[in-house]
Amino acid sequence: MTRRAVVIGVGHYLPERVVPNSEFEKSLDTTDEWIKSRSGIERRHFAAPGETTSDLGAKAAMKALKSAGLTGEDVDAIVVATSTADLTFPSAATMVQDAIGNTKGFAFDVQAVCAGFAFALANANALIVSGQANRALVIGAETFSRIMDWTDRSTCVLFGDGAGALVLEAQEGNGTADDRGVLATDLNSDGRYKEILYVDGGVSTHTTGVLKMQGKEVFRHAVEKLAETAHTSLAKVGLTAEDVDWVVPHQANIRIIKSTAKKLGVDMDRVVVTVQDHGNTSAASIPLALSVGVENSQIKQGDLIVTEAIGGGLAWGSAIIRW
Ligand code: UT7
Repeated sequence: MTRRAVVIGVGHYLPERVVPNSEFEKSLDTTDEWIKSRSGIERRHFAAPGETTSDLGAKAAMKALKSAGLTGEDVDAIVVATSTADLTFPSAATMVQDAIGNTKGFAFDVQAVCAGFAFALANANALIVSGQANRALVIGAETFSRIMDWTDRSTCVLFGDGAGALVLEAQEGNGTADDRGVLATDLNSDGRYKEILYVDGGVSTHTTGVLKMQGKEVFRHAVEKLAETAHTSLAKVGLTAEDVDWVVPHQANIRIIKSTAKKLGVDMDRVVVTVQDHGNTSAASIPLALSVGVENSQIKQGDLIVTEAIGGGLAWGSAIIRW
């Protein structure tokens, strides 16, 4: 028998305020047409004043718990992937822990920017497989609207706020790729590229900072590295693109999503796309897309899912999940 981390619940939360591309036309030299054609984004959600990352994460977590028929006290690990925690410390995860009424588990944040969910999922999977935890909440939650330079048209039109969450539970499998659960993960980073996507502030420099990106460079790495990590994860379980029911990619740019699907050899009708409605929500984008995919009856129990993401660091990774 093989211990597996199986998804038993999923949920998401988006802030109420929806901002269409046309809003940016009022303050920037940009157009709805440019944003749509270069990124695929049509609208995004922005958190209300005072609404924090842990607020979004806790709401997504409550929905995921509800879909699993559980309460906050029923999980023993809470992992939040975020680069926009409410405070420098404590972690957003401990704030979520309090908000969902969990007192017995442990909680911590993982920071790998847009690849954060892949890293959080791999950590939660390891905690479950090793026996450290029996049930884990894995949450991606972000308020990137707080770190935008609103005068920089090349970045501020691309990002949005939101949260998505999964509940994982230890179950016994037979050790094959037919098992439900997280079947493989692949994580990578290369700090030589830290200057092509970063925030120019932080605790150690007494500032908050705003996001800076060399979009074209990041784009180039994304197209090269995303298909590669997905292939690596699939190979770990002896599967190929033909076995894949759904690719659930990080939602940064429709052109990256399409070219990665092509490189993987998966048709776009097997790719979950939410970038048009959410923009780039960094670590939240994959769990958000998983939740939307389930809500829209695309993803069903037993489906083989590939997730892949890349972001600041650079950091990138993928996971294979039998839903
Ligand atoms: O989630 C983390 C990972 N991040 C990503 O994956 C993002 C990767 N990069 C991208 O998605 C794309 O590179 C962008 C969407 C950011 C940009 O698309 P692009 O096709 O690479 O455009 P570009 O940066 O080469 O800019 C083309 C032109 C430039 O003008 P010139 O120099 O050709 O005259 C920009 O100044 O478009 C201009 N431009 C804009 N024009 C209208 C840049 N932003 C805008 C804008 N509206 N908002």
